[in-house]
Amino acid sequence: MLNFDWASHVRVAMATAGQQRWQANVAVAFGERVEAHSAETLAHSVRVASHAVRLAQRLGLETAAVRELRLAALLHDLGKACIPAWLLEKRGSLTDDEHRIMQTHSQEGHQIAVDLRLPAAVCDSVHHHHEHWDGSGYPTRLRGAAIPLSARILTVADIFDALTSERSYREALSHDAALEIMAGESGRTVDPALLRLHSGLMDTPQRTRAAVLRFATQSLTTRLATAAA
Ligand SMILES: [Fe+2]
Repeated sequence: MLNFDWASHVRVAMATAGQQRWQANVAVAFGERVEAHSAETLAHSVRVASHAVRLAQRLGLETAAVRELRLAALLHDLGKACIPAWLLEKRGSLTDDEHRIMQTHSQEGHQIAVDLRLPAAVCDSVHHHHEHWDGSGYPTRLRGAAIPLSARILTVADIFDALTSERSYREALSHDAALEIMAGESGRTVDPALLRLHSGLMDTPQRTRAAVLRFATQSLTTRLATAAA
């Protein structure tokens, strides 16, 4: 059954990103296929969008870029519509071959986004959301700042939500426990500067307005440098 919360988020995100109704309709049709065999995926995508937008706004990205990031987050796992149902539904660990098949979802998702004629930034984010900061990710093993910033934001949001959500094999971790695990991934899986910003958001949600404004007036390069310091 389709996750209507996700579908309504997609329709709004498509419209605010300047896309047309047919594009939302096709995306929702792919979503229906994903949801049928991977029940948690769409709910996860809604939460990833929330985390990613919060981080992007903290970083001071332009409104248009934030809108495209939100859309990319909602669609980032849509390529799972092209993964065999038996594999999506498999419980327990995957074999190496099964992992390789599952990993094609980022390329399949990219192709769907391209076919939907979505903005290049959305296509790129979907394509690269499993790249790792140290170059060990997939599908193109991009490294560091060569990975699009929007995809790096998605990676942080994606991992944080995976850790803080309940899974069939474990309970949801607390924010603190998730951030501690992610700290061990800093510079390996995730961009250290973005992780630091994200952790700051989770630690101190009540930052003073003055501090936020001071940060917002800096250039993007300065903000990343400050966060990495
Ligand atoms: Fe994914």
